[in-house]
Amino acid sequence: MRVIVTKDFEETCKVAAGIIADVIAARPDARLGLATGSTAKGVYPYLVQAYREGRLDFSRVSTVNLDEYVGLAPDHPQSYRHFMDENLFDRINIDKRNTIVAKGTGDIEENVRAFRREIQSRPIDIQLLGVGVDGHIGFNEPGKVLWDSAHVEELDQSTIDANARFFKDRSEVPARAISMGVGEIMRAKKLLLLATGRQKANAVAGLLKNEELDAKNPATMVKMHADATVVIDEEIAGLIGYDCKKTN
Ligand code: F6R
Repeated sequence: MRVIVTKDFEETCKVAAGIIADVIAARPDARLGLATGSTAKGVYPYLVQAYREGRLDFSRVSTVNLDEYVGLAPDHPQSYRHFMDENLFDRINIDKRNTIVAKGTGDIEENVRAFRREIQSRPIDIQLLGVGVDGHIGFNEPGKVLWDSAHVEELDQSTIDANARFFKDRSEVPARAISMGVGEIMRAKKLLLLATGRQKANAVAGLLKNEELDAKNPATMVKMHADATVVIDEEIAGLIGYDCKKTN
């Protein structure tokens, strides 16, 4: 694992955008695995800026997103399809037919099967990951077992609470999501996990401070990947006593 310690959230996002830009520069038809949430939301403006300044071309890029809420239609303001359109796809020259977000309404079992087929259709060159306070990656929640492939996940109460900030009322937060499986995430050629702020410190400690693979902290699985970059801020590094000079 390569670990980068940044000053703060903003620098984390900038560094992450630079890493994604390098992948696209090396491979103009790259397949990006993307994420939503406040961390990813900080990364996309840098990609949009690079596109506007003529430094990045998305015309041949394709994408697949980690997850989507069950029960929210693509045009729902809190759906992850809507999030991606608003924060990235509508601001760059990507062909939206080449952007995959699982469908959260209709026949969910069929949507999961279709999502699995899409994921398997081509390797992901780089997968962007945020991390939940409870250690989830994608929406793979802590538990006794983790899943290899895309599936429907019951969201933990802590995840529902954390996501309530995006909804008018807590009761509107979906309790289930379609998520890429941990195995599918691991099969991406590169992983890029971002974590900032003290509330993520426990999850990151499990990833960086010991050798355990812990289903109760799915972020720990990232240590198995041969080409993973983890970007954390000084606050987390300080809290978990991570030595900035050490890369494991
Ligand atoms: C979102 C996703 C989640 C988030 C995680 C962190 O597509 O897969 O795993 O990355 O919940 O969310 P934020 O960045 O809002 O703290």
